[in-house]
This record gives sequence, C-alpha cells and structure tokens, in this order.
Amino acid sequence: MDAIEVIRAKRDRGGLTTAQIDWVIDAYTRGDVADEQMSALAMAILLNGMDRREIADWTQAMIRSGERMDWSVLDRPTADKHSTGGVGDKITLPLAPLVAACGAYVPQLSGRGLGHTGGTLDKLESIPGWRASLSNDEMLDVLRTAGAVVCAAGSGLAPADKKLYALRDVTGTVESIPLIASSIMSKKIAEGTGSLVLDVKVGSGAFMKTTSTARELAETMVALGTDAGVRTVALLTAMDRPLGRAVGNALEVEESVEVLAGGGPSDVVELTVRLAQEMLEAAGVSADPAKALRDGSAMDAWRRMITAQGGDPDALLPRAAESLTVEVPSSGVLTRLDAYAVGLAAWRLGAGRARKEDPVSFGAGVTLHAKPGDLVRAGQPLMTLHTDETSRFDRALEALEDGYAVGEASEDHLPLIIDRV
Ligand code: URA
Repeated sequence: MDAIEVIRAKRDRGGLTTAQIDWVIDAYTRGDVADEQMSALAMAILLNGMDRREIADWTQAMIRSGERMDWSVLDRPTADKHSTGGVGDKITLPLAPLVAACGAYVPQLSGRGLGHTGGTLDKLESIPGWRASLSNDEMLDVLRTAGAVVCAAGSGLAPADKKLYALRDVTGTVESIPLIASSIMSKKIAEGTGSLVLDVKVGSGAFMKTTSTARELAETMVALGTDAGVRTVALLTAMDRPLGRAVGNALEVEESVEVLAGGGPSDVVELTVRLAQEMLEAAGVSADPAKALRDGSAMDAWRRMITAQGGDPDALLPRAAESLTVEVPSSGVLTRLDAYAVGLAAWRLGAGRARKEDPVSFGAGVTLHAKPGDLVRAGQPLMTLHTDETSRFDRALEALEDGYAVGEASEDHLPLIIDRV
C-alpha cells in the first residue's frame, strides 16, 4: 500500500477500506507517511467526508496508535464529560468533584486553551502548586483519594491524534466533522472511562455555529462511543453568549468555587447539575447532585482533588495588575453579549495563547456585570477587563466593538440546554 493510492481514493470521493485506514494511520504515526501527504488526505476528507464505518475505523486506528487506560481495579463506575469548548466554560471544575461526591469516579484528561476558547488545565494551573502532568499510577492514587482527577494526557495516549491535530491546526483542516469526532472520541475511548457525557456547544463562541452541525457532530460521537462499549450521551448547549460571569483562568476558578459553595451564576449551576445527572445516570449511580452542592460534599471533594495534585485550595489566586471598566452605553435591555467577542477580548488581554508554547496570564480576562436579557442603565458597569499590560486594552476593546447591544426588547437567545442526543 502507499499514501498516494489512499489520497487518490478519497480525492476521487471513494470510501477508504479498513485496511487502507489502518495502514495510513500506523504509517503516519511511525513517520513513514509524510506530513504533506497526511495534509492532502485530511483536506480530501474535509472536502469529501467519511461515512460512519470509515469514521469508526479511523477512530479505532488512532486508539491503537497508543495505550488504552484501564480503571477496572476501581470499585465504582467511571464517568467523564467532554466539552467541545467555549467562552467561560469552566464546568469541569465544579462538575468533576461533584460527580465524585455522588459516588462515581471521574478520570478526566483535559487540554489547554488555544485561540479564543479557554483550557481546563490553564485554569487549574492558576492555583499555586497544582500539577497537570501525572503518571498513570499518580492518576490512580488521586482517583482513590479524591474520586476525581483532571490532568494532561500523556504522550502515550492516541499519539496519532496528537500528530494529526497539530497538522490540521496549520493546514485549515480542523473543521471537519469526521476528523473532529474521531479526534475527540479516540482520546476519550483510550482514556478508559465507562460512560461519557458530551457537551456540544452551539453558537458564535463554539466550533459549531449552528444547531444542525452540532447535532451531526453529537450523533457521530455518540455512535462512536456506543460502538466502542462506552455509554455515551450528548447535550447540545448554548454558546452564543459566555457561560457565567467570569472569563479567564483564575477568574473562572473563583467562580467555580462559588458554585461549589452553593452560590454562583444560575446558568453555570444549572448546566453543572444537569451534566452531573447525565453522568451519574449513564454510570448507573443514583444520587442527587444538587444536594451534594448544598451540603458541602462537592466542595470537600474539590479540596481533596486540588490537594492531591499538589495545589493549595486556600491559596490566594493570581490577580491581574490592571483593570478597566466598560460602561453600558444607553439605558434599556442588554440584547446581545456575543460569546466570540468576549472570548477574543479575554484572549487579547492575555488569558489565552497564540501559539501552543506561549504562557498564559492567570489573572487576565473579563468579568461580566450584566447578561443578555438584563435591564441596564446608561453608565453602569457592563464588564471589567483585567490584564497585566495596559497596552492590551485597546485591542480587547476593538474585539468588543460589535460584541454587545442595548435595545428595547431582548433578542431571541438559544435555550441553555438545546437538546439531548
Ligand atoms: N478537540 C479535539 O480534541 N480535536 C478536534 O479535532 C477538535 C477539538
């Protein structure tokens, strides 16, 4: 077999055979298929698609490129959540300890932010001492101690995806449903969770801008998980406006701790509780997550989880040196607060990175003082921008220029939870 034959087959709108897929993924991982050949194939897949059988084969081949974790030594079921990413999406932080407090183990491998969306590991790293890199044995220890672990995937997990994702990122081939679904699910299946809840975001701040494309991605991922023996469900949820009131690393940790203490913004609480219910149901555990938020058991699990990974749950979090308040321009109803605009502003303030190797500023970001639908008065604070370098304010304000509007009546927004797949 050779790479040109496989590229031509997909270029000419043919289906790839199981043998072709197994060969090309294995040869690419070993370095026998060149980056330029794989990028041509990824572009052919982006343009011509793959059917369900091809996507399943592609996913399985990526799983086989590395190790598959196994939590069968644990005495309770495992459950995990994956979000396709958004602005202010800190849900993993309260959710993982909440589900642990309810009786399931949560072994979560997470990522870092790239572009305008934040990454769970960057948020947790704003807690002094907290470590993202753990060995498999350390993961197991943290799970046994705290019931939940959130850490970086080691280099042995789906190495084919690591290589391919980096290539797609620089060749305009990220936005392909077969490639996104197989990328996400190869890592989640290899992670060894028994059940999985997918939070597929919809709207300007998400990968998927429309409900119909989000549904297609969700259905593809649910089928991949189910076929691999992982109990998988998906929720389609709103990302047309930011989630909660905090966008930025330490700011989002602070808001998550408020939720664990029984407070916090209503949308963050509602989504956290709903995802916990879905995870527990998929894992076959009967418990009331709302009660675990009220009675402090979720907070106890959070403190154990942070401490077990070297962090100090009582430490002061980093704060940005400079802040600037944006005021409401006129009185009325806040009709729009665009997720992408706020995410881009937070990124430009230093909360995100332009290249994988860049550092992030833990204190940078945006605090929102009003959400769409709120009655507002001219001159009241709309949001506060936080950064370490005042030179960053101008470009953040530019990102926000068309990002909000005040009018007479609220425009239609997506419901927080749009659908379940
Ligand atoms: N996240 C992933 O892990 N892979 C993709 O392709 C897109 C988002």
